[in-house]
Amino acid sequence: MATLSESPSVLSMRDAGVHFDGVKAVDGVSLTVSRGEVLGLIGPNGSGKTTTLNLLSGMLRPTSGAVLLDDRDLSRLSMRRRVREGVVRTYQSGRVFGRLTVFENVEVAGLGVGLRRGAARDMARTTLAQLGLEDVAHLTADSLTAGRIRTTAIARALAAQPRFLLLDEPAAGQNESEAVQLIESIRGFAREHSIGVLLVEHDMSVVMGTCDRLHVLDSGRTVIEGEPQRVRKDPQVIEIYFGKRE
Ligand SMILES: Nc1ncnc2c1ncn2[C@@H]1O[C@H](COP(=O)(O)OP(=O)(O)OP(=O)(O)O)[C@@H](O)[C@H]1O
Ligand SMILES: [Mg+2]
Repeated sequence: MATLSESPSVLSMRDAGVHFDGVKAVDGVSLTVSRGEVLGLIGPNGSGKTTTLNLLSGMLRPTSGAVLLDDRDLSRLSMRRRVREGVVRTYQSGRVFGRLTVFENVEVAGLGVGLRRGAARDMARTTLAQLGLEDVAHLTADSLTAGRIRTTAIARALAAQPRFLLLDEPAAGQNESEAVQLIESIRGFAREHSIGVLLVEHDMSVVMGTCDRLHVLDSGRTVIEGEPQRVRKDPQVIEIYFGKRE
């Protein structure tokens, strides 16, 4: 096991790009996530948010640029290997085992990363409590609302004890106050366990008060990155979110 001082502290993407049949889904994007912080990745539909997350998680390889863990190039490493390095993701659709209970879903994720049964159960109990899922722990996942399924997927990802957690629209389908509450609990987790979180979200008002920094994409390119208050005042961001576009 690496000691804390040896363990990587920054996940980054340097000038990374990927294209599909001539469409530049991500075009020269650089970003950095440090352990303990929540970086919000926002932008309109089709701006390249999920593709960026796919590049960081290893689901896609960059056609240019690199993905790094501290100074180490991860670009050619498979998703499985990246999970072992502590880079763990969730999916926009939320992926869980529908016929297992919520508790079992999280327990299995813990067993999958090598915890013993007792430890996996303890961890499942704590994680479900922190994410407010205790009430539904005994229900099968396929009986849950879409929002609860997504939260269960997050609990599963946390069970893998990530150093970096990549979340694709974890609050989709929830109202603004539920979304804010969910992201606040993720932020609490991130600080407590020193996890770096990249959170994809398309709703600007949800990320404003909950993320430490924001990175805005449009048509696969970075518009601006910075503190939420500064990002909100950026003229290009105002045009994208509030202005009329051709
Ligand atoms: N596998 C693929 N093949 C072809 N084009 C793709 C593929 N994946 C994404 N794209 C295109 O790349 C661009 C970026 O897509 P991406 O899914 O990353 O956007 P997004 O910001 O996550 O959008 P949303 O808010 O709708 O989830 C879009 O134009 C999309 O159509
Ligand atoms: Mg997406």
